[in-house]
Amino acid sequence: MGQRQPPTQAPLGQRRIHLAQVDSTNTLVLSREDYLSEHGLVVSAEHQTGGRGRLGRVWASRPGQQLQFSVVVHPRLPLAQAGLLSLGSGLAVARALEAVAGLAPELKWPNDVLLNGPGFSGRKVCGILCEGRTGPDAAQRLVIGIGLNCLGAAEDFPAELRARLTTVEAAAGRAVSPEEMLPAVLSALQDVLATLQQSGSQQIISEWERRARHRERRVRMQTAAGAREGRVLGLTAEGHLEALTDAGERLVQSAGETEWLD
Ligand code: BTN
Repeated sequence: MGQRQPPTQAPLGQRRIHLAQVDSTNTLVLSREDYLSEHGLVVSAEHQTGGRGRLGRVWASRPGQQLQFSVVVHPRLPLAQAGLLSLGSGLAVARALEAVAGLAPELKWPNDVLLNGPGFSGRKVCGILCEGRTGPDAAQRLVIGIGLNCLGAAEDFPAELRARLTTVEAAAGRAVSPEEMLPAVLSALQDVLATLQQSGSQQIISEWERRARHRERRVRMQTAAGAREGRVLGLTAEGHLEALTDAGERLVQSAGETEWLD
């Protein structure tokens, strides 16, 4: 008797619901059990009136100019590794930008994608908000929300954001539409998911670190004992950020706010 194989999972984006306007694609998906139960479902929107960012921030929506979507993923992974899909989503966007627009994005922990470096002087082109729920079968369901500034220029955004962000069009010197980017991002995300499921975390973490170039950078982390500064050692196997203080104390940050000091 051969081993019973789990049923094949649908490819990401096999079904897509595209909306003219919604408050937030992540909020909508999280509010609907039928959406959450459908691995691979993509909900995208032309415009979000209440787009959400990490740490309670607002995601500024530019109607028709950005790729804004959420994809439901049921990772067949141990819980610790499922968290890596948040980092892996940034990696997928970086791969897609390279493939479609010939750009060389950099990653900034935990999941910002930057263009027009060098290094962290680059401007943010994409934000990712990954939220999890446990299903009735105790299986993990992730909602990966991705916002990618495709068309237009930084000047189209509110004045207080302009200096810190950019668009694919501005960096590539040609109009790259949200519809052109979506299949590339989904296919790259599918590859990242397959790698994590088949080979574990090491390959994804190594590529992520190569694209982040954050080692030795000085960072301030919020710890239970207050703010601490140190130099980045790299990522742990779970994708947490690890640093060493001048006094030799090891710091590990799994989420939350990190301040880069150089
Ligand atoms: C961040 O940079 O803090 C994350 C921004 C995430 C924005 C995307 S757009 C699609 C999805 N829906 C949301 O409300 N947020 C995410």
